[in-house]
Amino acid sequence: MKKLIAGNWKMNGSLAANQTLVQAMLDGLQGVEPMAEMVLCAPSPYLAQLQALLAGSPIAWGSQDVSAQESGAFTGEISAMMLKDFACRYAIVGHSERRQYHAETDATVAAKAQRALAAGVTPIVCVGETLTERESGQTEAVVKRQLAAVIHAVTHCTSEIVVAYEPVWAIGTGKTATPEMAQAVHAVLRKQIAAATQHPERVKILYGGSMNAANAASLLAQPDIDGGLIGGASLKAADFLQIVASAQ
Ligand code: G3H
Repeated sequence: MKKLIAGNWKMNGSLAANQTLVQAMLDGLQGVEPMAEMVLCAPSPYLAQLQALLAGSPIAWGSQDVSAQESGAFTGEISAMMLKDFACRYAIVGHSERRQYHAETDATVAAKAQRALAAGVTPIVCVGETLTERESGQTEAVVKRQLAAVIHAVTHCTSEIVVAYEPVWAIGTGKTATPEMAQAVHAVLRKQIAAATQHPERVKILYGGSMNAANAASLLAQPDIDGGLIGGASLKAADFLQIVASAQ
């Protein structure tokens, strides 16, 4: 199974900068058989631009969030069907920045994942502990609780679903989990997934948190790390492509 390297641009970019960045990635992939599947998750106003730039290329595109509602009077929300209209293949849900700054609960995240799946958009469900939770020995309990909220979707999913383990203390800090630390949590998640579905091969588990061109190979070499969710390094074409090339 090919690994998945997902770029999360967060609230960065402009029409001009995106064009330059994507073109550099496509140029770098010319004549290359990519070692991994790829997706770029852009701010929603730029999804049409990504569709125009990436259609027919080996890079998919996706959103950074999706509404838990189907449609209607929910000002500012973007529905899964709207994402589907722009041929988004993926939607990140439950990123720790959404949980932290927008008070998203496990229940909200589960509802968003269900909406995405129902529309044919693959959710990338983020889980991960804070530094306080890690230091007080709660890592396993926290990620198991967060995954449990979406386990119904895992059980009944007939397509693919992606889980991303992102220790909050490693996001944007330059403090990456060691490959062993990440692998230990991924193994816990893998076991929980295996117990919930007859098709565990439909679920990829990505690692995210300061993954970069220098540390990607050792993280991606771990048996239960099926790819990466890349923030900062996805804003640099060379770094992103180096991470993709590390996904042997
Ligand atoms: O979604 C991506 C993650 O939050 C990781 O971000 O690579 O900048 O640490 P980072």
